[in-house]
Amino acid sequence: MSGKYATETLQANESGIARAAAILRAGGLVAVPTETVYGLAARADSEEAVGRIYEAKGRPSFNPLIVHVPTIERAERLAVFSAKARELAQDYWPGPLTLVLPRREDAGLAARVAAGLPTLALRMPDHPVMSALLEAVDFPLAAPSANRSGFISPTSAKHVLASLDGRIDAVIDGGASQAGLESTILAVRDDGNVDQLRPGPVKVARRNSASGFAGIEAPGQLASHYAPGKPLRLNAGDHGDDEFMIGFGDIAGDCTLSEVGDLKEAASRLYACLHLGAASDKPRMAVASIPDRDIGKAINDRLRRAATPPD
Ligand code: TXA
Ligand code: MG
Repeated sequence: MSGKYATETLQANESGIARAAAILRAGGLVAVPTETVYGLAARADSEEAVGRIYEAKGRPSFNPLIVHVPTIERAERLAVFSAKARELAQDYWPGPLTLVLPRREDAGLAARVAAGLPTLALRMPDHPVMSALLEAVDFPLAAPSANRSGFISPTSAKHVLASLDGRIDAVIDGGASQAGLESTILAVRDDGNVDQLRPGPVKVARRNSASGFAGIEAPGQLASHYAPGKPLRLNAGDHGDDEFMIGFGDIAGDCTLSEVGDLKEAASRLYACLHLGAASDKPRMAVASIPDRDIGKAINDRLRRAATPPD
């Protein structure tokens, strides 16, 4: 396709993972399935490789990346873990939780990974392909969601190719991502307080009773994000002829998030429905109202951003 790379599609087996590891070792870019969304991986210890991520995505350089590791022990080489941070890692890793912690001076990471911040975002994913890849290489992997900056996140290899074909070396096709929404991001502060920077699949009990979660936004949590490229109407009870309808529960759509009103199922299908709506010939989209509880909060967070037009 267009672009300077002939993007390879690799199978999610031993030889595909070995090929991906070789590309990464050489400083290339590989999109990899995780339990949340597909990530665009590069070796996190190479300034050049990390620079390619920003270039392929068209990502602003002020927006830092999440570093993925295979074990807590490897994570502790990169950031300083307080007792609270260790407890969270032990409770939720491997899984869809990212911890923002003080970065270690001797972490040996490319400076661009953290975009100049003194902190580092770390995650140990729970996906057999990503885990095997992290075991196969001896460096951590920086990996943002594998989509052009600002557009809909990918939950399949097809979604990745729709936005990055010709701009990356390879994608490993590992089927649909199960959780379907990006990880919950928590910042563990020096005083032991925990702030939620992004809602996601992991719901963490409020430990911070005075203020609750402060809701401070991660640099990348821009008002407009996940943009389908056409207007999206929220809380729609019905839809016009020119609208691609995304249904939920009793409200059926051209794509339905969950007929039985299951929020987890809805989360896993959200981006697939947004991708279908974006590709449809309808000029507009509408989505049924989603209950604002549990992972529904994270779904509504993504929908609000998808409905906000880019600047
Ligand atoms: O589930 C996920 O987290 C996926 C998979 C691939 O792991 N990754 C992902 O990455 O969603 P990305 O780049 O799309 O989102 C990372 C978010 C951005 O909003 C970024 O601003 C924030 O993490 N972030 C990264 N480092 C940070 C830091 N040191 N402090 C605060 N926020 C940070
Ligand atoms: Mg993203």
